[in-house]
Amino acid sequence: MQFTIVSLFPEFFDSFLSCGLMAKAVEAGVVAVDRVNPRDFALDRHHTVDDRPYGGGPGMVMGLPTMAAALRSLPRPGKLLMLSPAGKPLTQQMAGELAGEEALTLLCGRYEGIDARIFDLFDITPVSVGDFVLSGGESAAACLMEAVARLVPGFMGKDASADEESFSSGLLEYPHYTRPEVFEGLPVPPELLSGHHAAIADWRRRRSLETTLGLRPDLFDQTAIGVADADFLRSRPRTRSGRNMHLGLVHGPVVLKDGKVGTVSLTNLDVHDIARVSRTYGLGGFEVVSPLRDQLTLAGRIVDHWRTGPGSRANPDRGEALSLVRLHEGLDAALAAVAADHGREAALVATSAKGPATLSFAAAREMIRARPVLVVLGTGHGLAEEVLARAEGVLPPLRPFSDYNHLSVRAAAGILTDRLLGDAS
Ligand SMILES: C[S@@+](CC[C@H](N)C(=O)[O-])C[C@H]1O[C@@H](n2cnc3c(N)ncnc32)[C@H](O)[C@@H]1O
Repeated sequence: MQFTIVSLFPEFFDSFLSCGLMAKAVEAGVVAVDRVNPRDFALDRHHTVDDRPYGGGPGMVMGLPTMAAALRSLPRPGKLLMLSPAGKPLTQQMAGELAGEEALTLLCGRYEGIDARIFDLFDITPVSVGDFVLSGGESAAACLMEAVARLVPGFMGKDASADEESFSSGLLEYPHYTRPEVFEGLPVPPELLSGHHAAIADWRRRRSLETTLGLRPDLFDQTAIGVADADFLRSRPRTRSGRNMHLGLVHGPVVLKDGKVGTVSLTNLDVHDIARVSRTYGLGGFEVVSPLRDQLTLAGRIVDHWRTGPGSRANPDRGEALSLVRLHEGLDAALAAVAADHGREAALVATSAKGPATLSFAAAREMIRARPVLVVLGTGHGLAEEVLARAEGVLPPLRPFSDYNHLSVRAAAGILTDRLLGDAS
């Protein structure tokens, strides 16, 4: 594999290329690395490579003449990549695909980056190594080179050793141990000492699943796990962060069809479906709010039918979900009930199909990890202004860029809950 690095600081790579497996791979000819400095292509006597940005603003921009000349000078550029925080995220899968190329050229930016017309002149793929900003592309290029080179046949002693690492199966890797067997009272897990290959493989798979669920549950979105894996994850005792979250369905005060504030009737479907969402995601409870006594009586009858009446025998699972329903005459009573459950004050978070949002999903996830939160949804045409105003935050609308904004409240409850808790709950 041929790497060409285009950088104002080619010496940055000296130590990187002179130690460990990378040095060995260069020596063995598994990878070859050329370094090109755009400054060598500058035409003025100061060897200028940057200039002020059009439109003003801080910093300098790497200019096109030197960069284009540097790229045109390359005898074997192969695929062109630019390290950039605005690039496609570097993943193990991307590294695997790049390892199949014969040659890669890596453009390292400095200052505010490179004049954007570089993308019009050359077919360049921008690649990011993470959601943070480095001072230059060199350390990012080193990351990319190492991730790619170690997948090139011959780089590692045994080619198979890359197969079991984090991300190669879509999961994080299991933990490793070595001698001594006990260190400062800490033993190595007995399964690893058993000599029983199937037991070891099983232990490793389970640790890998647990680590992934604990640290990177988002990875389960990208990988299909088997029935046995899912059974194992389900069987584990877990701390449910979902318990801190309660859903609240407010029937009044809400906005009515005519724009006035009032109360709307309760819907059997909403009570059922939001209770099932609440149970599925391990929520602390589902708080139904209506100022109308007869509506609460009706809701009570529906719930009791499934919880203790004939419905409980016909479908006990439904009864289990509906057991999470509590009925309140007002928001204050709902908040008080949530606070009583947790022994501390609960935060009120509101939702709106229109915005404006004052609380991001990420901030709301943090809030739920830390304390009890009642997330309220409005029936009718949405929560009344007085409810939005007293909430600690209003979550962003779902699908804000869609030209159709009419989700049912129960569909919205499901989507919001998944955004807030996902599979981590
Ligand atoms: C100071 S940064 C420029 C940041 C740029 N103005 C911005 O806000 O996106 C200088 C150079 O560092 C490199 N760089 C910085 N962060 C990076 C990241 N997360 N991934 C890849 N390259 C990065 C790029 O080559 C970039 O051109």
